Amino acid sequence: MHSHSKLDSFGKDRAKSYDQSNNHIVPIYENLHYLIKILLSEVAPNSKILCIGVGTGSEIIELAEAFPKFTFVAVDPSESMLEVCREKLKKLNLLDRCELIHGYVEDVQELEGFDGALCLLVLHHTTLEDRTKIITGIFKCLKTTGYFICAEISFDLTSSAFGDIIEKWQSMIRRSGSQEGKIQNLPRMMKEHLFIQAPSEVELILVSSGFLNPIQFFQALLIRAWYARK
Ligand SMILES: C[S@@+](CC[C@H](N)C(=O)[O-])C[C@H]1O[C@@H](n2cnc3c(N)ncnc32)[C@H](O)[C@@H]1O
Repeated sequence: MHSHSKLDSFGKDRAKSYDQSNNHIVPIYENLHYLIKILLSEVAPNSKILCIGVGTGSEIIELAEAFPKFTFVAVDPSESMLEVCREKLKKLNLLDRCELIHGYVEDVQELEGFDGALCLLVLHHTTLEDRTKIITGIFKCLKTTGYFICAEISFDLTSSAFGDIIEKWQSMIRRSGSQEGKIQNLPRMMKEHLFIQAPSEVELILVSSGFLNPIQFFQALLIRAWYARK
């Protein structure tokens, strides 16, 4: 496995409770996945899709149902998240359409082999150095016609608008039943423990990694998503 910064936040306990603890975000995910399906309806029916930071596999499950001939290569450095993903795919009889790789994008062998690549809710967890490794790695894996779709928490944390919108985010998190102390600590946690980039910075890194003209197609509070082609 290649070296990226050590990330302890997706261990066994988090992996087991991940889907349940993300319930409050499901309506946002549904909308995001819906739009991703529209974007990917342009690629060939038998496309091969790369999922970097697949976690518990939500994106594969959504796409596999909508596109019955798609196959997937899914990568994640967390053994625990991958294990939950494997169980879910097995129950849905999807394992024979998926290759699961415990590792990083550099562990994917097929260069220029993919029609689409997803990196959903991963990049705000990674350092700037790892973000660049992931994006350039995905660039190498995509066919020239391929689509890259990324979603992440992205906002200018120094702007006055952040102070406002974070309150809306906190109201949403409150619905998950999270402890009030944790909710109050969210702005600090985001500034100190996540690697949140402003939208202009996200786009700059995509362009400097070779992607042409990234287009933001989605925003729900702090979560934004882009698509880009080579
Ligand atoms: C918040 S989860 C998102 C999972 C899934 N994509 C989703 O939308 O539900 C983030 C995932 O990114 C993985 N991850 C963290 N650092 C990574 C890296 N450098 N390369 C690939 N995946 C990474 C974590 O292990 C975790 O499973």
